[in-house]
Amino acid sequence: MPAAASSSELGSDQQFTFRLLDWYGDHARVLPWREEVTPYRTWVSEIMLQQTRVETVIPYFLRWMKRFPTVEALAKSTEQEVLQTWEGLGYYSRARNLYKAARVIVDQLDGKLPDTASELGDLPGIGKYTAGAISSIAFGEVQIALDGNLKRVIARTDAIDLPIGSSQADNAISDILTKRIDKYRPGDFNQALMDIGATICLPSKPLCGQCPLRTVCAAFQQDRQNEYPVVAKKPPIPHFTVAAAVIECEGRVLIVQRPADKLLGSLWEFPGGKLEEGETLPECLQREIREELDAEIIVGEEVGVFRHAYTHFRVTLHAYRCKITGSSEPRLIEAQDLRWVDPTELSAYPMGKLDRLISMQLQV
Ligand code: ADE
Repeated sequence: MPAAASSSELGSDQQFTFRLLDWYGDHARVLPWREEVTPYRTWVSEIMLQQTRVETVIPYFLRWMKRFPTVEALAKSTEQEVLQTWEGLGYYSRARNLYKAARVIVDQLDGKLPDTASELGDLPGIGKYTAGAISSIAFGEVQIALDGNLKRVIARTDAIDLPIGSSQADNAISDILTKRIDKYRPGDFNQALMDIGATICLPSKPLCGQCPLRTVCAAFQQDRQNEYPVVAKKPPIPHFTVAAAVIECEGRVLIVQRPADKLLGSLWEFPGGKLEEGETLPECLQREIREELDAEIIVGEEVGVFRHAYTHFRVTLHAYRCKITGSSEPRLIEAQDLRWVDPTELSAYPMGKLDRLISMQLQV
């Protein structure tokens, strides 16, 4: 049998993989979904980690596993319970899709997650990246998982002169990773790059002194690590001013459930909408309530002003106490459902960030 090559005898792709996995052995982050790896735990963690930082995900993951320890427990729950457990994590379609997929897995797949990226990709909410991450980590399938961290690392190690996120850059990076992925430890390979991206190869001021890849990193070798990744100019993020009505009647307030297929789908909110040009905030509310609920209101004092930055836009929301006038009775036009709720019971209704801030303000 030939003697194993020492690291200095390896080609540069193999050097990269050797150094990466060697480093991961000692430096892998200790994370709850790594302590016990099962397909269900890997799936839930990967969905939670989409667009969300590890530190934010950890408490949600631990709470989720207590409440829904198995795919069967998840499939047996209700969408409202699932949204409640998810509340605060954002991108709520992820939670609705986890629930939908759990029902498919239990009803049609004998309670077992498929073990290939291609079949995983048929389930709701599992795109190419997530399918690769789950199949490599939970099943050892040789699949790359191209997330933002991996793209940045390779953009530097291989001095990719294409704008990050462009399809040409993605293709170049996928080809490089496909050449280098370890056939025996594909999940560790992907997770090691995620860890390097999250802890060393930071977007600005990368900690190259600590990086196991610096000897194989083109950007570091040329002292140009701050020039990568190449970033295309982004259009400015739009800002919306929004008004919301806290409509009160006999000590209760009106909340409505958003349509399932819209942003923040199936979450509850105080009705209202975007300010249009030339309108005052009270006029905006009167128009929105007429359009949304076919009711007339008087707008009273301001409850508060709340701000939130979503990924693609920012919102400043003004909430007002309101009363229905005359005999008009709100009726559903766009929303799925409406309820008159005692303010102390609002926490039982899953809401987005801004509406939760309003509901908390009503309780002080
Ligand atoms: N981000 C996405 N998936 C991850 C994982 N498995 N470990 C750490 N960070 C991640």
